[in-house]
Amino acid sequence: MDKFLIKGPCKVNGTVNISGSKNAALPILASTILFDKPVILENLPRVKDIDTMLSLLESLGSKIVLSKNKRTVKITKTKKKNFVASYSSVKTMRAGVLVLGPMIAKHHKSITSFPGGCVLNGNSGRPINYHLNTLKKLGMQYEIKKGYIFAKTKAKLKGNFIKFPKISVGATENLIMAACLAKGKTILKNCAIEPEIKDLTNFLRSAGAKIKWVGKRTCEIIGVNNLKETKYSIMGDRIETGTFCILAALTKGNLLIKNFKPKLIQTELSFLKKVGASVKTFKNEIQIKGPKQIKSINNISTKEYPGFPTDLQAQFMVLLCKANGISKITEKIFQSRFIHVMELQRLGAKINIKNNTATIEGNTEFKGAELMSSDLRASAALVLAAISAKGKSIVSRVYHCDRGYEKFEDKLKRIGVNIKRISS
Ligand code: EPU
Repeated sequence: MDKFLIKGPCKVNGTVNISGSKNAALPILASTILFDKPVILENLPRVKDIDTMLSLLESLGSKIVLSKNKRTVKITKTKKKNFVASYSSVKTMRAGVLVLGPMIAKHHKSITSFPGGCVLNGNSGRPINYHLNTLKKLGMQYEIKKGYIFAKTKAKLKGNFIKFPKISVGATENLIMAACLAKGKTILKNCAIEPEIKDLTNFLRSAGAKIKWVGKRTCEIIGVNNLKETKYSIMGDRIETGTFCILAALTKGNLLIKNFKPKLIQTELSFLKKVGASVKTFKNEIQIKGPKQIKSINNISTKEYPGFPTDLQAQFMVLLCKANGISKITEKIFQSRFIHVMELQRLGAKINIKNNTATIEGNTEFKGAELMSSDLRASAALVLAAISAKGKSIVSRVYHCDRGYEKFEDKLKRIGVNIKRISS
């Protein structure tokens, strides 16, 4: 398992090119199951989860041809048909469950393993009841046996009126994809509206899907018989952008962040301004300068988009450890997404957790230590903390980071971070 060796403190300066969005690319790739015609996708991020999804699609009968730089993929269908998304193909990735909706819509059957991915919800795991209960309303029948969902439908799925009991990114995506080929009209209420979901619907629309967003959280889909050949460029990664913005503020650095539309992260940028960072936005770029003194904030709560994203909670917590007072962050999306706190405490952080609220004492001088990553965003937070710590830190289990950050250490080196990957 690879490790990062980081010698801090470092101040970042320069330009960062943001890669394609992992969380937009994953559902878009899953949705190619709905097609008979070829699909070309550009701006793919080169991260582990994308490789996992491409292998899964290949195992289900798609032909995958990647360009030399692996950023463009052409996906065509072969005659081979397999309806089993095996445990070995989805055990490391939660997004594996996103093939269920498209498979049931296209092939009327699917055997899908319960997915893996980051452990973010303590003992309650990461349930998929909303996916299953709502797909059932389109006509899917299912049984759970030996860790697999055995799903089928007698004929085409049938459009319906569905209100999600709680906002869920993955369930919204699964339903949108399934409804594209269902008979008649589907109305989805209380949808997640993350920009990555809008990227998915823009992609599907580019292939002739009839999808309309009506009001804030309602999506109307009229099923079509098939989708057309299309070529689409995936949006930039919102969480990678946020992570680099936080790094600039944390190290009092100055970064020009390219290839991302700032209007999609207004909430995050407003919190960065609150801590004192100077933020200038352009159409597709952000210039961010860290403040001399980071100010504390006592009321951040993670929330569904357009609220503050849970995927930046750990990284922002690192920033608040350096603020001039006491800050508070409440995690409202996942029950126990605070595993990084224990590791930050090794560096000297003073953080107290009560229920789902973390109280963070500011003015912490981090001192280098050995740290272990526990999930994707936690691993990015540990890297950020190590960059701002005095002395040498080793961050282990960086395979978590590799799942979602493209060439993280190369991008960091280029802006002045003393970081080295130790391969084992
Ligand atoms: N939930 C249920 N039942 C369900 C589905 C969700 O109880 O059937 C609960 C979850 O346990 C959680 C909440 O609802 O408490 C929201 O979960 P959601 O379904 O929105 O999350 P997800 O689709 O599993 C995606 C991202 C996550 C991100 C969350 C929240 C992808 C591939 N994953 O997960 O990204 O944290 O939305 O924004 O898009 C990451 O990239 O590091 C990551 C974890």
